[in-house]
Amino acid sequence: METKLKSTLEALEKTTEEYWNISRQTGNFMNMLIKIMDAKKVLELGTSNGYSALWLASALKETNGHLTTIEYWEKRQCLARKYIEDCGLSNYVTFLTGQAYDIIKNDLKDMYDLVFIDANKQEYLSFFEVVHPILKKGGVILADNITSHYKKVEPFVEAISNHSEYQVQLLDLPDGLLMAYKL
Ligand SMILES: C[S@@+](CC[C@H](N)C(=O)[O-])C[C@H]1O[C@@H](n2cnc3c(N)ncnc32)[C@H](O)[C@@H]1O
Repeated sequence: METKLKSTLEALEKTTEEYWNISRQTGNFMNMLIKIMDAKKVLELGTSNGYSALWLASALKETNGHLTTIEYWEKRQCLARKYIEDCGLSNYVTFLTGQAYDIIKNDLKDMYDLVFIDANKQEYLSFFEVVHPILKKGGVILADNITSHYKKVEPFVEAISNHSEYQVQLLDLPDGLLMAYKL
């Protein structure tokens, strides 16, 4: 891992509670998965200050892919832009500002290899409704906070687990990461 990326990740790990970031283990897992899948197009719902985006974008630099990340809190997304730029990853990231559901439904036309859901937990089911049509067959949905916020995400978990087009597994990572493979 490049020195600037390593030091930026370590610095951001001091404020994970303030910015509601994923765990380091989750970031490392997603980074590996992108490389294993040779994923080219990745979508993230919930940028915050860009901690997870750094893990995603640094893998996409290796696959020559691209991350699109959505956040409605501009101040947080400004921080994310800065960290991504500091780490030389700006060419691999597009930042979109606004409500994830509306942006996906109205503005995104491309098909994605991997979608990471980490925005408002109560909206996971509606996010799934708009993500499903833009996920390629053989693509993957990852969703964080499945065990830490189970009550809030339960309708989503039920829906995707009973959906005939998805093979689903809950991974034993901090906060619980759901992985769903589109058949
Ligand atoms: C858990 S944090 C994301 C953390 C980030 N993925 C990381 O690990 O570094 C969730 C973020 O999603 C944003 N958010 C929540 N609901 C949203 C929505 N409906 N549309 C866009 N952003 C949303 C919040 O402002 C917050 O910054």
